[in-house]
Amino acid sequence: MSFADATLRMPAEADLRGFRGALAEYVAHRITAPWDPPGDADSATLRAHVASLADMPGRDLHRWYFVNGGYVGRITLRRGQSSVVTDLHGHVGYDVRPSAWGLGHATRMLTLFLARCVSPERPTVRITCSANNPASRRVIEKSGGVLVDDFGGFLRFDVPATAG
Ligand SMILES: CC(C)(COP(=O)(O)OP(=O)(O)OC[C@H]1O[C@@H](n2cnc3c(N)ncnc32)[C@H](O)[C@@H]1OP(=O)(O)O)[C@@H](O)C(=O)NCCC(=O)NCCS
Repeated sequence: MSFADATLRMPAEADLRGFRGALAEYVAHRITAPWDPPGDADSATLRAHVASLADMPGRDLHRWYFVNGGYVGRITLRRGQSSVVTDLHGHVGYDVRPSAWGLGHATRMLTLFLARCVSPERPTVRITCSANNPASRRVIEKSGGVLVDDFGGFLRFDVPATAG
């Protein structure tokens, strides 16, 4: 697979058409994010959703991932330092639309994100996945993640922020 035209960027209104199809896939697979609008959201709700993901100081950083201009996935840097973030959710969360699974997109997206979107002052980020999520575990390991421990069924990894 060629990743020549793989890009990460801030979500924009122009991306909503592609995102609507992906949202339907997330809903069908029951893997929506807590901040997602409902699958049947109207255009105004979707526009408000995209606006809520804009870069703001101190807030989580959201990037969407496109290949050949089409929406494929999304990735978030959680900026909080609470134990819920560092112990449970991790600093980075991501997903890929189900119709694009198994093609290397999550690995490419995470590599781009770690290289471009994480502050150079942070040498590693904590990424966690459920012990029941072997695909995500593999993505983290392919990105250089080192297993720290198993925290009640959550595998906690430290991943170099300069990977890739
Ligand atoms: C996890 C997820 C992001 C992976 O996306 P993806 O684009 O399919 O990932 P990639 O193609 O980059 O890599 C997947 C790897 O997992 C492997 N894999 C997939 N299913 C697997 C399974 N059941 N057991 C073991 N390995 C598996 C693939 O073979 C691949 O490894 P390889 O390149 O060595 O062959 C995607 O499945 C997803 O969005 N899941 C729902 C949300 C989620 O779990 N997010 C992560 C939260 S921690």
